[in-house]
Amino acid sequence: MTQCSTRLISKLKDAQSVVVFTGAGISAESGVPTFRGNDGLWTKFKPEELANVDAFIRNPELVWEWYKHRKQIIASIQPNAGHYALARMEQFHKHVTVITQNIDNLHRRAGSTTVHELHGNIEHNYCIDCGKYFDDQEIMNHDRAPRCSACNGLIRPDVVWFGELLPVEEWNESVTAAERAEVFFSIGTSAVVYPAASLPMIARRAGAYIVEINIEPTEFSSRADEVLLGKSGEILPHLLEVCYQSALKHI
Ligand code: OAD
Repeated sequence: MTQCSTRLISKLKDAQSVVVFTGAGISAESGVPTFRGNDGLWTKFKPEELANVDAFIRNPELVWEWYKHRKQIIASIQPNAGHYALARMEQFHKHVTVITQNIDNLHRRAGSTTVHELHGNIEHNYCIDCGKYFDDQEIMNHDRAPRCSACNGLIRPDVVWFGELLPVEEWNESVTAAERAEVFFSIGTSAVVYPAASLPMIARRAGAYIVEINIEPTEFSSRADEVLLGKSGEILPHLLEVCYQSALKHI
């Protein structure tokens, strides 16, 4: 198991403000497929046919079928030890902010209280014409692409598709949190999709200690202060059990 450096232990001991930036890798051990890599979703499906608004208008049935399938998978799985360890970090610091690129809602389900969802949330939906919101319960029994009860417009999942802007408030709050972070974790992300991938650099420029957790090195690794190689579902509980305990002993 990866050892925590004495530097990381001392940073964690003093940190009031910790930011955790996550990607698909943190949910891999819950059974949610990642996007890149050998088994990644984008090696089997074309984002231009499934994850953009033009594709949805052109072929709503196909896009609905794909998202209904993903909604069913995500509804059937549970947060893993990595998500739970992050939620428990809140006991040790004044502010723990989770910024996630994931749409699976697993951080909140694990108990994290401050979560910014940069790419939306697959459990939420809205009408593309009038903006009315719909819960999954209201639309999941539709075989065909669901329509709005108020105006008959098409209902889409509240996720960010290619070519769309990130939700402004979530983004601004994420940048502020990154700028204030003393320790910044980048976990289970290939860190290649912008603007989200700029957050570790924003934190680094503002003076945060940057820790990457991933099963393999990424394009960002050389710029991190510390890289912990391994599964987040194993490293994060270890961090809680071993590194935080060492930090507490030194308080
Ligand atoms: P990727 O699929 O690009 O990267 C997942 C990362 O997780 C890789 O670096 C893996 O090595 C790592 N990984 C896999 N299993 C892991 C584990 N058990 N523990 C730790 N790390 C693990 O996913 P993202 O970086 O999240 O955007 O992708 C970013 C965005 O690209 C997504 O939000 C999505 C996609 O297109 C939109 O849909 C807008």
